[in-house]
Amino acid sequence: MRKHIVAGNWKMNNGIIQTETLIADLKKQEKTSNAEVMIAPTFTNLWHAFQSSKQSGIEVIAQNMHFAEEGAYTGEISAGMLKSIGIQTTILGHSERRAYFNETDESLAKKVDAAMANDIRVIFCFGEELSDRKAGNEASVVESQIKNALFHLSADAFTNIVLAYEPVWAIGTGETATPEQAQDMHAFIRKTLAEKYGNDLADSVSILYGGSVKPNNAKEIFSKPDVDGGLIGGASLKAEDFFAIVNAF
Ligand code: PGA
Repeated sequence: MRKHIVAGNWKMNNGIIQTETLIADLKKQEKTSNAEVMIAPTFTNLWHAFQSSKQSGIEVIAQNMHFAEEGAYTGEISAGMLKSIGIQTTILGHSERRAYFNETDESLAKKVDAAMANDIRVIFCFGEELSDRKAGNEASVVESQIKNALFHLSADAFTNIVLAYEPVWAIGTGETATPEQAQDMHAFIRKTLAEKYGNDLADSVSILYGGSVKPNNAKEIFSKPDVDGGLIGGASLKAEDFFAIVNAF
């Protein structure tokens, strides 16, 4: 059975003190669901967060990484560097990375390859803009994002891939896709995977929804059969809210 996952993307929030406080608060929360719990602090706090979260059941993950192993890439962090501090999972392709840092399907394909070569699990994000949805192109946009960045991979690689459908118009806007919109897209994504890799593989890949998931809407979204969890931005910055979402399963 595929895993339920709730991952908190802290984005560029929380210095070291706030990180420490939030992790202490998270550790006090009671977990009543079977979901895997992850948090993605900023690079400077990863090592500390990793140490503080040991034995808590919370996995500390990265928000991004570079595709090169090492070298003249000022300001960047490699897969090997993440591994060297114990990080085993990274988010890649978040829409903010695509929009503000020029990440493309091509550069993301290289990042995915570097992650796979280093045995790092990837939460691969994609999703359409509002204009795509208004034009009725959301499925074709999502399909090409997935195909261009992932469909060169072998079937085996998908044991290390989690997908995160994040419609850009729902991120940080307070506007969520309806549970039906999320389900329709997730079913389409699974069908796209099945066409290329077969039903068994498609059924085994967790597909998360992201975009204004809050304690008051998580249960309904997570109740949909093809929604296997959430990538949570704003609501992951408060321990109670985040665990209300984790426990919505
Ligand atoms: P949000 O962010 O929950 O604040 O909308 C989601 C995300 O960017 O992953």
